[in-house]
Amino acid sequence: MKKIPLAKPDLSGNEIKYVNEVIAKQGRISSSGYYLDKFEGMAARRFKRKFALSCSNGTTALHLALLSLGIGPGDEVIVPTMTFAACAAAIVYCGARPVFIDSNLQDWTIDVLQLDAKKTSRTRAVLAVDLYGMPANYDILPAWCKKNKIYLIEDAAEAHGACFAGKPVGSFGQVSCFSFYGNKVLTTGEGGVCLTDDKALYNRMKVLKNHGMRSAGLYDHDIVGFNYRLTNLQAAIGCAQFERFNEFLAKREQLDRWYHEFLGGTEEIIFQKYDQKKISPVCWLFSCVVKKNSQLIRSKLTGKGIENRAFFKPLHLQKPYKRYCLNQKFPKAEYLYKHGLTLPAFIDLTKREIKRISDYLLASF
Ligand SMILES: Cc1ncc(COP(=O)(O)O)c(C=O)c1O
Repeated sequence: MKKIPLAKPDLSGNEIKYVNEVIAKQGRISSSGYYLDKFEGMAARRFKRKFALSCSNGTTALHLALLSLGIGPGDEVIVPTMTFAACAAAIVYCGARPVFIDSNLQDWTIDVLQLDAKKTSRTRAVLAVDLYGMPANYDILPAWCKKNKIYLIEDAAEAHGACFAGKPVGSFGQVSCFSFYGNKVLTTGEGGVCLTDDKALYNRMKVLKNHGMRSAGLYDHDIVGFNYRLTNLQAAIGCAQFERFNEFLAKREQLDRWYHEFLGGTEEIIFQKYDQKKISPVCWLFSCVVKKNSQLIRSKLTGKGIENRAFFKPLHLQKPYKRYCLNQKFPKAEYLYKHGLTLPAFIDLTKREIKRISDYLLASF
């Protein structure tokens, strides 16, 4: 039986053409060139920001965002415990302390009702995550951050194309970050972008990502920087991906509809709850919560050749991060971890395959 992977990039547009062009004509295979400029322009326009800075991946994007805002030792950053480890790692790279916050059980993003309880005099930022394609609560977050003079950083790595109240994710943070890893809605293989409307922040991130040099080529280092650059080759792939963004989103909407058609109405399965008039999530990996412990169900699906995953293991349970939250409880994130299930979602996944996945899932209860 044909195996169904969890995710698969679609590189059947202009990707090969543009990469070949870089190799054959331009010779610019490193970190400057036509496609890098074009890619940044496409990202800025699409996510409605003044400035877009490409970088090597989503983790370096978060690191640059935090550093540009001056976050360092002694500072605290509120971050959901239910997210990928890169979010906490980037905070720790800066010498700051991650302050974990639980999720809400409706849409699984950060529980904004707990923000006040997590705030201290050291809180400098909230790192909000648009988890599994769902925008965080941007009715509350920007206003709460503004009122408390706290920065909002948005991690939209898993939600390219999602919208909240008509605005795209990526447009909410002082700095917003994306990943373009191979399993994301848009990919460059490895890659990231930082978006902002603040020129000073943009300039700071630009220097930081390029060895601390004010302008490329000058051996004049103002600060200790990093090499967090994306290559022109990767950006060439990214441009071809952006060209098909709308098509990708339409297809992912279709995948979501098919999953709901086959799995909806089953009491055993719970989907994210959200205001459908206001919020348009994107079907990144199709995610749901199963009432039974998902582990047994997952292994049955794996046995049928269907790749699947549990939700992220919450960061407060992870060895490097436990020490930041001793004696604190995160029951909702732990529930999601125990019951969460992510299923395949990629562009050429067919209705028939989704039926097959759904039938196996329903049979495994
Ligand atoms: C929410 C979130 N943030 C950050 C990252 C890190 O991105 P990258 O793998 O490109 O470093 C990921 C995963 O890829 C993610 O899911």
